[in-house]
Amino acid sequence: KILVVDYGSQYTQLLAKRIRDLGVFSEVVQFDDNISFNDVKGIVLSGGPDSVYDIDAPDISDEILNAELPILGICYGMQLMAKKLGGKVEQRGIAEYGKTKITITDQSLLFKKIPSTFNVWMSHKDMVTQVPEKFKITSLTSNNIISSFENETENIYGIQFHPEVRHTEFGIDILKNFVHGICGLKGSWTLMDFVENKIKEIRDTIGDKKAIIALSGGVDSSVAAVLTHRAIGNNLKAIFVNHGLLRMNEVEEVESTFRDYMGLNLTTVDAQERFLSKLKRVTDPEQKRKIIGEEFIRVFEQEAKKEKDCEYLIQGTIYSDVIESAKSGKKTFKIKSHHNVGGLPEDIDLKIVEPLKELFKDEVRSVGEILGLPREILYRHPFPGPGLAIRIIGEINEEKLTILKKVDSIFIKTLKETGWYDKVWQAFAVLIPVKTVGITGDKRSYGYVAALRSVDSVEGMTADWSKIPFEILDVVSSRITNEVEEITRVVYDISSKPPATIEWE
Ligand code: XMP
Repeated sequence: KILVVDYGSQYTQLLAKRIRDLGVFSEVVQFDDNISFNDVKGIVLSGGPDSVYDIDAPDISDEILNAELPILGICYGMQLMAKKLGGKVEQRGIAEYGKTKITITDQSLLFKKIPSTFNVWMSHKDMVTQVPEKFKITSLTSNNIISSFENETENIYGIQFHPEVRHTEFGIDILKNFVHGICGLKGSWTLMDFVENKIKEIRDTIGDKKAIIALSGGVDSSVAAVLTHRAIGNNLKAIFVNHGLLRMNEVEEVESTFRDYMGLNLTTVDAQERFLSKLKRVTDPEQKRKIIGEEFIRVFEQEAKKEKDCEYLIQGTIYSDVIESAKSGKKTFKIKSHHNVGGLPEDIDLKIVEPLKELFKDEVRSVGEILGLPREILYRHPFPGPGLAIRIIGEINEEKLTILKKVDSIFIKTLKETGWYDKVWQAFAVLIPVKTVGITGDKRSYGYVAALRSVDSVEGMTADWSKIPFEILDVVSSRITNEVEEITRVVYDISSKPPATIEWE
């Protein structure tokens, strides 16, 4: 495998993923971790926000330098090696950010089969101005700045740019030259190996003790649950909290998928009344979230306590849940609140296991496919933890919940029938409890407004409203007004994020 030593770059995990995509297992370690070199065939030093001259700049350990393994230093990693091995790193009043042209000036195994001039992605102020003794410069930028150096005999390579970023032309090829060529790894690793190793690892960690997981039916917790179930069988207890704010038939679907089809030891807790009574007369969205988050913890705690000698809590944390703390170069993990409703109890006396924490969403989905989870679960749109509570504007009651469930299910069903469900990132309906006039048959009616929202997005940080064809919106609208008598008017939300958010509350 390849070790990726993290110096705090926002691209570290991406780097690890790119190497895995080349069929070579890669693992991220922190620069000050105790590193085991077992099975390691190469080391990549990531970039980072520090300057090598900062007083508390993260360092490179002698163990790494003396491990006699090929090393590739990227950006900060390159500068760190330059300084450590006797070269010079300076600031010269110029910085290179973004697309930059470089020219190869000397032969290098790293640049095998790559044109002599190409564009790379840069992000640096500090630069290597003198390479260590016995090192040679292998490329320069159009500003005449050293963009790579190496010592082929020692197998040490440094590049100033980021090969992991898509904007770097031939970036993947450069990584491939390092991993397949210089490190000599064949590239036969697949996510199948990840699954096998993870199952073994979970089994070793948990042994014959018991574990619980809060299953939401979302992709991450589902994959984490099934993976852990493969490892420890029914010693994993999955808890599904029905807070009454779920979509039409959601409880039945989760139960049939996980209990009947996947064979999980699943308990559904019917906590509808608890949640709904706490939410009575509450109109403020943040207040709703807070109540649901807290109540969720209480319910989960109660269930956990019923389980004797349960020692572990499984969480479906994935890589994007990781918050980077740039300063120290150390990463801290946000506790993945069960469907992000606000966190799990802090005083709960359980050890946390996060089997998916190094994976990206697409890798999580592939793992799910390997484990035999149905597509409907793996390619589901995201659904917020507080559920329909934040899709009913203002006060929630059972009547409004019933209406919204019907409207939402018509919308989603139509999107699925027309092939649009998989084209958009997230789609749902919102109930606006404002009465407007309509006409049904010969009679005047007076009903609520339903808003349809569908967005295209990558991670939900920004979003565009989806350009669903009018004909389809037309079908949805008439189905809704025909089948849900409390709705007299249907509107389609054409705002993007920013300035609007995806959810209405
Ligand atoms: P916004 O509305 O902030 O939504 O643009 C971005 C994404 O986050 C989801 N979302 C939530 N998820 N708890 C969650 O677990 C929440 O309180 C919450 N609020 C918004 C939203 O569905 C979208 O995917």
